[in-house]
Amino acid sequence: MITDLYHLNTGKKMKIIPGPASKHLGERIAGLLGIEMVPLVFKRHPDGESYVRVEGKVQDEEVAIVQTTSPPQDTRLVQLALVADAAKRHGAKKITAIVPYLAYARQDRLFLKGEAISIMTIARMLKVAGVDNLITVNIHEEKILSKFPFPARTVSAVPLLAEHFKNKGCKKAFALAPDKGAVWLAEEARNILGGESGYLEKDRDRYTGNVSMKKKLLDVKGKNVIIFDDIISTGGTIVAAVGILKEIGAERIYVGCVHPLLIGDAEKRILRSGVEVVVGTDSIPSHVSKVSLAPLLSRELT
Ligand code: R5P
Repeated sequence: MITDLYHLNTGKKMKIIPGPASKHLGERIAGLLGIEMVPLVFKRHPDGESYVRVEGKVQDEEVAIVQTTSPPQDTRLVQLALVADAAKRHGAKKITAIVPYLAYARQDRLFLKGEAISIMTIARMLKVAGVDNLITVNIHEEKILSKFPFPARTVSAVPLLAEHFKNKGCKKAFALAPDKGAVWLAEEARNILGGESGYLEKDRDRYTGNVSMKKKLLDVKGKNVIIFDDIISTGGTIVAAVGILKEIGAERIYVGCVHPLLIGDAEKRILRSGVEVVVGTDSIPSHVSKVSLAPLLSRELT
C-alpha cells in the first residue's frame, strides 16, 4: 500500500522520484518505506539531449531523487540536475539527492598543476539546479563533503557486503583493504566477519594510471581473504592485490566492492587472476550487484 511517510522528527511528508539511472533502487526504497513515487517522464531527444518532466504533485513537498551517476556519468549528472530543477519549478520545497555512486568524487583535489577539482564543480552545478542536500554511499574521501554548498553525507555499504559474505559461509575470513586509505573499510568488515584485517600499500602513477603494490607480509597463509574496496574500475588494483596475496599464501580470495564500475573486461581479469567471486551493490546495477542499498538508504530517509 502506498502511503505518505511522515518524518519522525519533523512530521513532514516526503516523496520519491526514481531517476532514470536508478529506477529499481528508487522503487525499492519507496517500497520499503511505503512512500509515494512521483511519475517522471524521461526521454532522449534525437540529438542525445535528455528531457524530463515531473508529472506527479510535489507542491510544498520534500522530494528525494534517486539517481546514480555511473557511466555515462555526464549524462546522468545532467539528468539529475534537470530532475531537481523540474521538481523545484513544480513547487517542491526541499530536494534531497540520493546519489549512490557520485561521479567525479575521486578528483577531490589537485593532483597535478592545472587540473580542476571536478567534484566541487559538480556540487556547485547541483546546488544551482536546486539540490538542498545530498546522500551518497562510500564516497572516496568523506572530508570533501564538508566543502559542498549544501549539507551532504556519506554512508557505508561495507557492513552489508560483509554480512553477505558471512551468510555465504565466509565467517572469520581475513578482510583486506588494497590500500591504506581503505583500511577502515576492512575494519568495518572485520567487525562483522569476526576475523582479522589488514591493508596493502598501493601506488598509482598519476600520468599513466598504472597501479603498483609492494609485497607485504600479512597473516593470510592458508586463510580465506576478502578484498574490500569502494570502487572497481579497471580491476588493476584488485589484480595487483591478488598477486601479492597468492605470493604470501592466501587460500581462497573473494572481492566485495560498493561500486562495481567494472570497465571493459575488468571482471574477467579479476576472475582470471584467481578470485572466486566479485560481489557488488546495486549502486551500479550489474550482474554482480548481489547486495541492495535499499535498506541502508531507506534508513537514511527516516
Ligand atoms: C582508488 O583508490 C579506489 O579506492 C579504487 O581502489 C580504485 O578506484 C580502483 O580502480 P581500478 O579498478 O581501476 O584499479
